[in-house]
Amino acid sequence: MDFKNKEYIDKIKELAKTKNAVIFAHYYTRPEIQEVADFIGDSLALAQQATRVQADILVMCGVHFMGETMKILCPDKKVLIPDMNAGCSLADSCKASDLAEFKAQHPDYMVVSYVNTTADVKALTDVVVTSSNAKKIVDQLPKDAKIIFGPDHNLGSYINSVTGREMLLWNGACHVHSRFSLEALLQLKKENPGVEVLAHPECKAPILAQSDVIGSTKALLEHTIQSSAKRFIIATESGILFEMQRACPDKEFIPVPPEVTEGVGCSCNECEYMRMNTLEKVYNCLLNESPQINVDPTVAKKAVVSIERMLSMS
Ligand code: 13P
Ligand code: SF4
Repeated sequence: MDFKNKEYIDKIKELAKTKNAVIFAHYYTRPEIQEVADFIGDSLALAQQATRVQADILVMCGVHFMGETMKILCPDKKVLIPDMNAGCSLADSCKASDLAEFKAQHPDYMVVSYVNTTADVKALTDVVVTSSNAKKIVDQLPKDAKIIFGPDHNLGSYINSVTGREMLLWNGACHVHSRFSLEALLQLKKENPGVEVLAHPECKAPILAQSDVIGSTKALLEHTIQSSAKRFIIATESGILFEMQRACPDKEFIPVPPEVTEGVGCSCNECEYMRMNTLEKVYNCLLNESPQINVDPTVAKKAVVSIERMLSMS
């Protein structure tokens, strides 16, 4: 490891101990962030773990909505995120005011929202889901329930297909998962016959149709650990490859590249928001105890109901 990174990691760990802080990281963050974290997980595991730790400070190295979820679940703890600009294109695709209007047009529908949403959207939601538990939770809802599912259209279509529901879908998407190239995937399958394709359900339907395993980041990681196969084709944000390689040093992971789009965002399969988390920012945020996530108590009071309903149904 880079000497500067090692030095930062040591300093962060020391400071975290002094301040009784726990560092959380999502699988999509940079390798060195996963290295310094006390706990690495998918969205569901991060939310669950936040409620279990004894700490004064929670540092959420991921994106803004993950910090908000932690703050809503742990209002008495200080929740820090290394960069306030670490947003999420999927969460941005559903404004609370638009959802409120849509709900008013569909008064007999209940709302199931993906965790990749703002606290304001969660406050308008009946039950939150993550990619880990969406099927399990939707399966538990009354068979005749009319459901609005948002904001991820790809995940919603996938859940409709595996549950036999006809949920009304919001038209949102993650800019990283919706840009994987089908052409490149077909080429990779041709060059690697028999190699399983693992995909996150935020990918578009044609990518999912070519996949053998569809699941959350944690489910995909667990599959690579449990499987006797030695090679896998991976269609999700490339940060997960670090944890896969660390868990299975003798296996090979082949990332699916994105479609090449001139001048739009980056042409790689990385989430630039997740990459905003750097060791320097983690250190500074712990030192200064800023930036801090705060959620309006009125919003939090409503949002916690839909999040806790999810935790109890998981
Ligand atoms: P997971 O719930 O699988 O961690 O996914 C979160 C996310 O942001 C996917 O893009
Ligand atoms: Fe949001 Fe997509 Fe980044 Fe996940 S990968 S945090 S859904 S922008």
